[in-house]
Amino acid sequence: MKFEFSDLTVRFGSQVVLDKLTETIEGKALAIIGPSGGGKSTLLRVLGGLLPANEGKFALNGTWVDNNAQRLNEYRKQIGFVFQSNGLFPHLTALKNITLPLIHTFGMDKITAEKKAMDLMERFGLEDSSHKYPSQLSGGQQQRIAIIRAIAIEPKLLLLDEPTSALDPELAYEVLSMLKQLVESGVELVIVTHHLGFASNACDTVMYMDEFGIGEFGKTEELLRAPKTERLQRFISKILSI
Ligand SMILES: Nc1ncnc2c1ncn2[C@@H]1O[C@H](COP(=O)(O)OP(=O)(O)OP(=O)(O)O)[C@@H](O)[C@H]1O
Ligand SMILES: [Mg+2]
Repeated sequence: MKFEFSDLTVRFGSQVVLDKLTETIEGKALAIIGPSGGGKSTLLRVLGGLLPANEGKFALNGTWVDNNAQRLNEYRKQIGFVFQSNGLFPHLTALKNITLPLIHTFGMDKITAEKKAMDLMERFGLEDSSHKYPSQLSGGQQQRIAIIRAIAIEPKLLLLDEPTSALDPELAYEVLSMLKQLVESGVELVIVTHHLGFASNACDTVMYMDEFGIGEFGKTEELLRAPKTERLQRFISKILSI
């Protein structure tokens, strides 16, 4: 993926969260790291077309996205989104959660949609979960179903906002290894995460942001092994000290 940002600005009242962001970032898997309140979720929501910027614009792979409702809607259909809490519909089975957008948003027929959903669930060892409701699944299984729902639409890009933060370490591991597999199979993603191990093993690019904006971004090995700014050095030692 290639993101170009041009004067991208997001404000909440008098608080400026993104301040005339102008950068170009390229990579296959981008990890966004940084302290709480730094604007990571805000940036991700803008990149997903869920939050219009107050000023400026951005491009994904050369196509500029602005606040025009129709263009934004078309753009949103190309993006898969996974949130901290999975956002599955509680009254629908795992299978129906996955097929719903395929049928209703993308006009796929029911049989094709169900085959696609079952193939993906089998690929990730979740076929036994297909007829269960979210409340009958573990947190890790729920999150993996949410990821399958997001990739079933074959998005150009998958955006994930701390997908493992509500999970025990073992369940987080299940989810992260699924994501690593997806990256290895060519799925491009942007993930907000505190798992530096995952960022380092699965993501080729890392961006650090805090309340002062984007501190650093670049190739993972260079950035995590030899951070240039004191802000990032401090953040990494803090995370590693826990
Ligand atoms: N809808 C909103 N209305 C008002 N302020 C908001 C809104 N969303 C975010 N903010 C503010 O913007 C700043 C950045 O928030 P954001 O959620 O993007 O941070 P974050 O880096 O994702 O933090 P965390 O790691 O805790 O999830 C925060 O100070 C937050 O209070
Ligand atoms: Mg956040």
